Amino acid sequence: MIPLWAQLVYLACAVCFILALKGLSGPRTARGGNLIGAVGAVVACVTVFFYADLDHLVPILVAIVVGSVVGVVGAQRVQMTQMPQLVALFNGVGGGAAALVALLELGAFAEVDGVGVGDFALVATAFTVVVGSLAFSGSVVTFAKLQELMTSRPVLFPGLPMAFAGGLLAAVVLSVLTVTGPTVWVGVVLLVLGLTLGVLLVLPVGGADVPIVISLLNAGTGLAVAASGYVLGNTVLLVGGTLVGASGTFLTLLMAKAMGRSVGHVLFGALKGGSTLGAGEASNRPVKSAGPEDVAILLGYASKVIIVPGYGLAVAQAQHTLRELVDLLSSRGTAVDYAIHPVAGRMPGHMNVLLAEAQVPYEQLKEMDDINGEFKQTDVVLVVGANDVVNPAAKTSPGAPIYGMPILNADEAQQVVFMKRSMRPGFAGIENELLFDPRTTLLFGDAKDTLGKLLAAVKAL
Ligand code: TAP
Repeated sequence: MIPLWAQLVYLACAVCFILALKGLSGPRTARGGNLIGAVGAVVACVTVFFYADLDHLVPILVAIVVGSVVGVVGAQRVQMTQMPQLVALFNGVGGGAAALVALLELGAFAEVDGVGVGDFALVATAFTVVVGSLAFSGSVVTFAKLQELMTSRPVLFPGLPMAFAGGLLAAVVLSVLTVTGPTVWVGVVLLVLGLTLGVLLVLPVGGADVPIVISLLNAGTGLAVAASGYVLGNTVLLVGGTLVGASGTFLTLLMAKAMGRSVGHVLFGALKGGSTLGAGEASNRPVKSAGPEDVAILLGYASKVIIVPGYGLAVAQAQHTLRELVDLLSSRGTAVDYAIHPVAGRMPGHMNVLLAEAQVPYEQLKEMDDINGEFKQTDVVLVVGANDVVNPAAKTSPGAPIYGMPILNADEAQQVVFMKRSMRPGFAGIENELLFDPRTTLLFGDAKDTLGKLLAAVKAL
């Protein structure tokens, strides 16, 4: 039984998590929110040492030290562009831990033959074993895909849908068996089934959709943790898990909407032949290219400029140079805004975080719906390391993997300048017709290098 004082501490930690989520919903308060959440998590972890008579104290402490060192070193070393796979891994480990705790609980229930254990607690335990292990193995596969340890294309084999459906059915049947008479071996089979289902669920998902699945698995981990909180009678697990489950579900739906498809299509689209990722080849059709000096003249004469940042800006780490260029243009009286597409980059809010790092004022960042009407009156659109988010194929080519995704209307501007290194396509792997438009100029090179040259050329005007 958890003493009252500890329950109150857990309640306070749960409140910290709610405040953390509130803080994380805005760029100005995100840092503080993150800190409050971290404090809540640390206090929740430490509290148990003050009231529980813990066996195996040494292995517990060793596990905490090892986990903390791996977490801190991993988080410090990771590149911003690798953040989705780090989140996947951390989330997966959480799901795996919840599944193992539930398996131990099942062992305890089996010892008393389920006597005195409510049916709902047994259902919640079986649910945690399956969903927690599914989230673990699924997250490991998403990590491998995004880290390019395996192909990021959909992996399909004959019988995959049947294997998945069969596994799901078996999991339901075994969960019912658990309620009628809990045994450890059924728990172990449920764990193996969960691990298999996780792999089968993620294999057919193409690279561009993997971050959406990470968010979905994250929601799954949250629900598994909430269910284990119910079984263990632990408020902080219950509230924390529910928050992760709810926010993960919302994030999944929002990301799917921003990419113009349903969650069902993200998960099972490839099974119907609708792969969401193409292995695009570089095009060799002729394009109009220019040097930094020519583009500087274009910018120098423009009275309204819109910057479209994308994944390449993050890769090149050119955000500081971009900000300098924008500041210079603004100081000369040019109206400059940044147009932020909801899925530019590789994770939600990627461009906001990147530009905030370069101290770009939030007021200059305009969301897609707010700025899309302004492209018609814009002299120059400077597309820095972006591609799919301005690809008109999303509006005009029903067969394209990005068809239906809302895009930034860069094609409506007077002039478009693309800064990229080659004619290779973006993440979706398809050609961008806007690159071949007569109003488009290409400035080839690494974004940091070319932005530096462009900045010098604008200064020299
Ligand atoms: P992309 O379409 O991936 O285009 C990135 C562009 O950056 C490429 O054209 C690439 O061309 C260029 N690039 C790469 N490194 C560069 C460098 N060092 N210097 C200059 N250019 C560089 O990016 P986007 O427009 O931001 O679109 C995001 C894509 O990711 C969408 O398809 C979206 O659906 C997908 N996605 C996003 C998310 C979230 S939540 N943001 C999640 C999942 C998937 P070169 O190779 O020729 O340089």
